[in-house]
Amino acid sequence: MNFLCPRDSGQYCDATVGVGGHAHAIMERSAPHGRVIGIDRDAEVLKLANENLASFGDRVRLVHAPFSQIRSVLEQASALPLDGCIADLGVSSVQLDQPERGFSFRRSGPLDMRMDRSQGESAAELLQRVDEEELARVLHDLGEERFARKIARAVTRARASGELTSTGALAGLVARSVPRREAKDPATRVFQALRIAVNDELGELDRFLQEAPGCLRPGGRLVVIAFHSLEDRVVKRRFRALAAGDAASAPRFQILTKHVITASASEVAHNPRARSAKLRAAERLPA
Ligand SMILES: C[S@@+](CC[C@H](N)C(=O)[O-])C[C@H]1O[C@@H](n2cnc3c(N)ncnc32)[C@H](O)[C@@H]1O
Repeated sequence: MNFLCPRDSGQYCDATVGVGGHAHAIMERSAPHGRVIGIDRDAEVLKLANENLASFGDRVRLVHAPFSQIRSVLEQASALPLDGCIADLGVSSVQLDQPERGFSFRRSGPLDMRMDRSQGESAAELLQRVDEEELARVLHDLGEERFARKIARAVTRARASGELTSTGALAGLVARSVPRREAKDPATRVFQALRIAVNDELGELDRFLQEAPGCLRPGGRLVVIAFHSLEDRVVKRRFRALAAGDAASAPRFQILTKHVITASASEVAHNPRARSAKLRAAERLPA
């Protein structure tokens, strides 16, 4: 909130509204007239956001869409230009904690992992479709997994015998395929890779970072919270390009976070999932 600086009568976009935690904070700080458009590609979490933000009435509008479509969402809502935009990437605790969504390897559920369950290919369908080499590439590139080849071989064997039906079965298979050397569960990177692939998370982020800067007014701020180094690298590079004025057609920005901001020890103690959060912020300069 300190980077976003919400103010009365401002117009904001929470591009990953989730259950509405950030949107709630923006509403309080921009009272009594500030407005928020909340976007999320998950219709199920939007229902919770709707309940959690109901007290703010028509100051909040919620839209079911991928954030790559931010410009058309804002155009349709007549909500341009923005005073600020925040994107808090990845999945929410609500999604992670529901085994039936298939994001968790700790509690078994179907191998789904789609943020938008109304469309697209589930993780189970992806695992059926790809060949061993492509799977190894996904695990290596999107999960930074050293044993990608070994795991891909084990997965393609297991799927032929119909064993791979649940997140628990996949996590068990991964654990048996790699040497256990670290405290982190070996399924962590595999699940991260599959989730990123199923939801085309890097493609979405790239398109969002192309569109969002031009949706801000001069002085407007863009705040992005990433959860792993692949995402953070994309944000860092795009912010640098915007600050350097590399693309003639894009607006110029000033980077507000010289170094990436991470959660304090006390925040992590209170919310362990914040431990990998990486925040960067930038402000649009006058033309
Ligand atoms: C970390 S959570 C955000 C939590 C939110 N800040 C809150 O306070 O509740 C990320 C949310 O972004 C959504 N999401 C992720 N990628 C998205 C995308 N490309 N387009 C729209 N929503 C997306 C997820 O469905 C999830 O609800």
